[in-house]
Amino acid sequence: MIPDEVVELVAQQADIVAIIGEHVRLKKTGSVWRGPCPFHQGTNANFSVMPRGGYTCFVCGEKGSVFTFVQKRLGMSFVEAVKYVGEKCGVEVKETERKRDGPDPREPMWELQATVGEYFSRVLWDAPGGAAAREYLASRDVTRPVAERFGLGFAPREVGAMRAHLNGLGYDDARLLAAGLLVRRDETEEPRPRFRDRLMFPIHDVSAHVVGFGGRLLGPGEPKYLNSSDSEIFQKGKLLYNLQNARNPIRRDERVILVEGYFDALRLVAAGIECVVAPMGTALTEQQADLLTKYSRHVFLLYDSDGPGQKATFRAADVLLAKGLEVRVVTLPEGEDPDTFVRKQGREAVDKLVEGALDVFDRKVQLLERAGWFADLQHKRRALDRLLPTIRAASDPVTRDLYLARAAQAAGIAREVLLSELHTVRRGSGARATATRKVERPSAGRAEAGPDDMWPDAPPPEAEPVPTGPYKSEVEQGGAEQTLLRVLLTQPVWQDQIIEELGKIEAEESPGGESDERDALGEDAPGVLRDPIYRAIYEATLRHGADAPPEVIAEELWPHAVRVYEDLRGEKEAVVDAKKSIADGLRMLRGRSVEARIRSLESLLALASTDEKDRINVAIKRLTDEKRALGVQSWGSVRRRR
Ligand code: GTP
Ligand code: MN
Repeated sequence: MIPDEVVELVAQQADIVAIIGEHVRLKKTGSVWRGPCPFHQGTNANFSVMPRGGYTCFVCGEKGSVFTFVQKRLGMSFVEAVKYVGEKCGVEVKETERKRDGPDPREPMWELQATVGEYFSRVLWDAPGGAAAREYLASRDVTRPVAERFGLGFAPREVGAMRAHLNGLGYDDARLLAAGLLVRRDETEEPRPRFRDRLMFPIHDVSAHVVGFGGRLLGPGEPKYLNSSDSEIFQKGKLLYNLQNARNPIRRDERVILVEGYFDALRLVAAGIECVVAPMGTALTEQQADLLTKYSRHVFLLYDSDGPGQKATFRAADVLLAKGLEVRVVTLPEGEDPDTFVRKQGREAVDKLVEGALDVFDRKVQLLERAGWFADLQHKRRALDRLLPTIRAASDPVTRDLYLARAAQAAGIAREVLLSELHTVRRGSGARATATRKVERPSAGRAEAGPDDMWPDAPPPEAEPVPTGPYKSEVEQGGAEQTLLRVLLTQPVWQDQIIEELGKIEAEESPGGESDERDALGEDAPGVLRDPIYRAIYEATLRHGADAPPEVIAEELWPHAVRVYEDLRGEKEAVVDAKKSIADGLRMLRGRSVEARIRSLESLLALASTDEKDRINVAIKRLTDEKRALGVQSWGSVRRRR
């Protein structure tokens, strides 16, 4: 609680124009200040700030005081907002003791996690069973002081050890099961520990309570990391690893460095770089971005230099930009992650890279430029399709303007053209842009659990939950993909023909082999089958040959896809007239492909010169005839999402 008089005083002293002016470009008009509204992303000066009052937007109706502005724009609580404004205007804000209705109900859960953490540490340092983990740490150059600073521990291999110890301290099995420290498949089974034979990283909330753990295997195996399962106190999407330590350094340095892994965070801190946090092995969430906005507006992304790392970088950047943060990308040399890099090169080398970090947008442009994506019209179109979402994502109007200007310059097209493109959401490029969204495919070597979860957290012995019931694809019409795949998997005589025909469609859709485009920004081309599960099955089948043993193919798929694969293989009878099914299915896919090509040509028109327009229109006409000849309905309405 902050006393009313203090709130009052801060409100009086605050320079609302200056505070809002840090986020909105304001101009004085008469007695008020006006600018574009940051709440509805307006471009006209409909947002008005009264020097002695509040703010109002005449278009979206957003209005409030200097405190509500800070709360909304910086994601702060009311108390934090008053303190923030107080700091800016030199009024000291002290909270009075909150009236407590007893202790926080989560207290016992925190206490249990902390106790377990101490137990793991004792095992690591003092037990004979911890020797392997101690050697492992030594092999990775992690000294005892560093390990202790992070509270590392070791979960022993023996099934009963932790349970006996905690039972001895008065924690009964029911409590340990509820906390997810013990698990069992059913009532009759003996409870087993969730974590065994793993190096344990305690995970804290921002107030430094131990809320859960990430456990790493010492050797090869899957999953490499296992996190606590989500609970009232542990929510992966809302926590940032090391934030409890980093929050003050982040405020002090006015920057935060975001890394992908626990080990990366540990290594940078060990090297003396303190303002480092990491997500919990999932893609950065909106809530995590919100959390960051409270500490700094300047985010440096320091992710692995590999393909998945790059993809994750740009994805995280869009989430952060949407919160109005300034995002820069630190680029590591090929083959390095922050851990290996700092270990080899030391702190100064990291500092240098951080100093040289590029704004995320410039980095995108740089990668596209290097890959020659601004050279010809078609590539330019695709390049813009990659850049526009980032411009849209930026919630800060000044940033948006800047990005717009840079993109226009890089692509050599008029700013006005780009501006109108910005407001056009195209279906044409949808084939590429949306194909991979719904069911995110796992990247090689990292198993998968769902869109936000890049890794399976299902512990042994619990199994990954796989949806039941027939699989319903969201991207295809008339079941063409499914039918073709089913025939392919069940009727060997047709295999060669189907593969050949699908290959032809795919080749027509991407003339000249566009393998270069797979990785300019780390994204995949869509492929002839748009459904991510069908596509994964098809591609695995191509890689191993249609008559490879099913286990070999299933091996490459994630659990949900395996189930769909098995269903398809088991439905021999579902295909009555194979020949006709194949013909119909291919015709549909060809029609869809032609349509996608038409849309992608149409999307070029806006950027084309008069000469080019003529040529494009001729090509569109030809494809339109082709589509008509195929006699398939339009796919457009089906493929739209959001
Ligand atoms: P090392 O491989 O020991 O260097 O650890 P790292 O922290 O560098 O891991 P990596 O770069 O492979 O992955 C980054 C982060 O993703 C990890 O810190 C974990 O949070 C998470 N992660 C990696 N593998 C898995 C996994 O198999 N399951 C889960 N749940 N998370 C994982
Ligand atoms: Mn690593």
